[in-house]
Amino acid sequence: HHSKLAELAVRHAIAEEGGGPERREKERRAGKLSARERVEFLLDEGTFEETDKFVTHRATDFGMDAQRVPGDGFITGYGRVQGRVVFVFAQDFTVFGGSLSEANAAKIVKIMDMAMRVGAPIVGLNDSGGARIQEGVVSLAGYTDIFLRNTLASGVVPQISAIMGPCAGGAVYSPAITDFTLMTEKTSYMFVTGPDVIKTVTHEDVTKDALGGALTHNEISGVAHFMAHDDQECLAMVRELLSFLPSNNLDDPPRKATQDDPARADAALDSIIPEESNQPYDMVDVISRVVDDGYFFQVQEYFARNIVVGFARMAGRPVGIVANQPAFLAGVLDINASVKGARFVRFCDAFNIPLITFEDVPGFMPGIQQEHGGIIRHGAKLLYAFAEATVPKLTVITRKAYGGAYCVMSSKHLRTDLNLAWPTAEIAVMGPEGAVNIVYKRELDAVVRRAEAIMPQGVSLSEEQKLEVLTEARKEKVEEFRERFANPYVAAERGYIDAVIRPSETRRRLNSALDMLATKREKNPAKKHGNIPL
Ligand code: COA
Repeated sequence: HHSKLAELAVRHAIAEEGGGPERREKERRAGKLSARERVEFLLDEGTFEETDKFVTHRATDFGMDAQRVPGDGFITGYGRVQGRVVFVFAQDFTVFGGSLSEANAAKIVKIMDMAMRVGAPIVGLNDSGGARIQEGVVSLAGYTDIFLRNTLASGVVPQISAIMGPCAGGAVYSPAITDFTLMTEKTSYMFVTGPDVIKTVTHEDVTKDALGGALTHNEISGVAHFMAHDDQECLAMVRELLSFLPSNNLDDPPRKATQDDPARADAALDSIIPEESNQPYDMVDVISRVVDDGYFFQVQEYFARNIVVGFARMAGRPVGIVANQPAFLAGVLDINASVKGARFVRFCDAFNIPLITFEDVPGFMPGIQQEHGGIIRHGAKLLYAFAEATVPKLTVITRKAYGGAYCVMSSKHLRTDLNLAWPTAEIAVMGPEGAVNIVYKRELDAVVRRAEAIMPQGVSLSEEQKLEVLTEARKEKVEEFRERFANPYVAAERGYIDAVIRPSETRRRLNSALDMLATKREKNPAKKHGNIPL
């Protein structure tokens, strides 16, 4: 059988050649790993099992019959990440620009179907010129077959898209449906239509990078969740991300051993809230002091920074953290923050990851732009997401919890299992200043009128004097309001807060709650699906 084995070896070698050394060299010069190197780097060493390595396209138009590369430019298969099964596909830009053909779409569909049968994550390494132009609508059909499976797999197995080269046109919609999108700096871009088309249609001038590079999608559009300097960092991030996730929606996320005492107290938390309630502090600092080993893996770190979301561990258990960030726009909830928070909450709920909310929110962002942009329906997403979530839910109010934002941020009334507050909490309909201006408007006006009335005939108060009188009167009322409402005890008296705790004991309280909630069972009413306001 020597000759048969030799033939097999030759076939393997040809498949591994891809688009040839010249094209591969071009990629290397651009700072990219090859598709095969990427797969190897992503998976635990020696675990990759390739499928459909000898599949070729069947197109004959445009001289395609003379150009066939075994594998057709996509590498597909499965392997392991931290010992757990993961399905993977990688597009090889050196073969027809990594474009999607009927044949390689079928390769992806095959592993997606297998991933669904066994309940394992799917990771796509995207680097493609889009639909294979020579195949026309057949290629579009291939995309759509993938989109359908992305949609059906959503909430069943985690789906991760790394964008490590071009991803344009219809190709963007597979990553868009998956749970997380990572992009590499300088080498990746995503857009529905590129700079040339934009120039023709809207006469706007824009570079590929400014239009749809890694920074743009991480900071401005919110399309991407992570940004990596290069391929290696990107793939390491995928591995890191997977370490927090269960293999499927029926599994629990993997627990990891830790030396960090679950009851560890952190004295610094007792003085982390500034004296003045309009002073900022960094909520990430609070989170780091509470979670295992101070390790917090942020998601969408550069987008809508007034809310912070990401993964951490508590006594080894993965948890999803959602936190207002007083260090950015005072932690206000706006459209982007609401959408960012909502999507993360729903991901965690779908995959059995308990949610911990750290709350310090002055309210929703006022403004015409926000109202006309639909803050009502976007803010409602976050509310809806917290309300429908049935995973263990814990909330810690560190400072402000005002107005509608109080309701939204995993309040007791949304079936949150444990609502804790620090003594620095201020829970009310609005801040004391705003409240006084509305509630005491008449009374404050009257104070000014009285001051005017006691002036001698013909003499009236100057504007400065009026302001002085008003400020003095208002100060008194603000103080009164602050004393009455800017605390956690009114809510605690009602049972809306389960316990007012010393900040230093937050970690112990949360860990004990997570232990207590380990067997939580809660179901939503049977329905086809809800109608989250989109
Ligand atoms: N179908 C078939 N072949 C494609 C392709 C596609 N969609 N996209 C790229 N290729 C081929 C090119 O013909 C070229 O082949 P060659 O090496 O034999 O010359 C190779 O892939 C590399 O493409 P090239 O254009 O030289 O690379 P680039 O880095 O300069 O540009 C793109 C990359 C993606 C910007 C450019 O190829 C492009 O615009 N492709 C079409 C994108 C598109 O509109 N796709 C349909 C959207 S659904």
